Amino acid sequence: MQILSGKEVSEAVYVDLKKKTAEFVAINGYAPTLAVVLVGNDPASQSYVESKKKACISLGFGHRDYHLSETVSQDELVKLIKDLNADSSVHGILVQMPLPKNLDADLVIETIDKDKDVDGFHPQSVGNLLIGLPCFVSCTPKGILEMLDYYHIETKGKHVVILGRSNIVGKPMAALLMQKGRDATVTVCHSRTENLASYTRQADIIIAAIGKPLFVKPEMIKEGVVIIDVGINRIEDSTRKRGYRLVGDVDYDQVASHCQSITPVPGGVGVMTIAMLMKNTLQAATQLALKDIE
Ligand code: GUN
Repeated sequence: MQILSGKEVSEAVYVDLKKKTAEFVAINGYAPTLAVVLVGNDPASQSYVESKKKACISLGFGHRDYHLSETVSQDELVKLIKDLNADSSVHGILVQMPLPKNLDADLVIETIDKDKDVDGFHPQSVGNLLIGLPCFVSCTPKGILEMLDYYHIETKGKHVVILGRSNIVGKPMAALLMQKGRDATVTVCHSRTENLASYTRQADIIIAAIGKPLFVKPEMIKEGVVIIDVGINRIEDSTRKRGYRLVGDVDYDQVASHCQSITPVPGGVGVMTIAMLMKNTLQAATQLALKDIE
């Protein structure tokens, strides 16, 4: 059994990004800059936003943090995004999801300038992704492809079963894997799928992104499967100082020995997501700099 280490792959990505960022700064005289907008006080979101900030600092990127109260109005949030769109010293804009229920996430995402849409959530980015045109690719699916490539895991002709149909992971992941060049046969299962295990047992590769702790069990897989676990769930654990531990959507301890390879949680997909956000931010800054010259 092989452990697919997001830590190892992301370190390789950061080495490459550091080099490319130094080149960018030498040419342009400024650093790629990411604006991160967090609304409310969800602890998991706060922790993700903090990790994104740390990644920016480690690469020498500029970062702007906007922490808004959960009572912020739709208009105020939209205005902030429009200001960031117009600010030429900001190259990437990320609004941490999920937003509080009273805000319209679709409208917020649509407001982000598609040239600064480093999350790849804008409808135009998603549409381009589906038809195979250049675009910003959502960071988690992009990170998963990077991991598969790093470990030379072939997807051509393979049956990939994705658990979860979210706009952030499941749907873009399916679109990417079925594209020419990736050539996978893709099944997307979700909370209303009947007899879900009958699909997962056929999978050569399982991508679990349903947000249910320890959901995938040994009887649901075939021997020698490759498992990519996207889940980051907090479960109570009184033996830990902070009172919880992180587990994936896969029951790693029970399942790992039956796999050809598997990602751990933490240290798997999560760290890749942030590395890809940094990659997208450098891409945005580079494209915007070229547009300036035109
Ligand atoms: N919430 C969970 N994952 C993500 C992500 O990749 N981007 C944003 N903006 N919010 C998220």
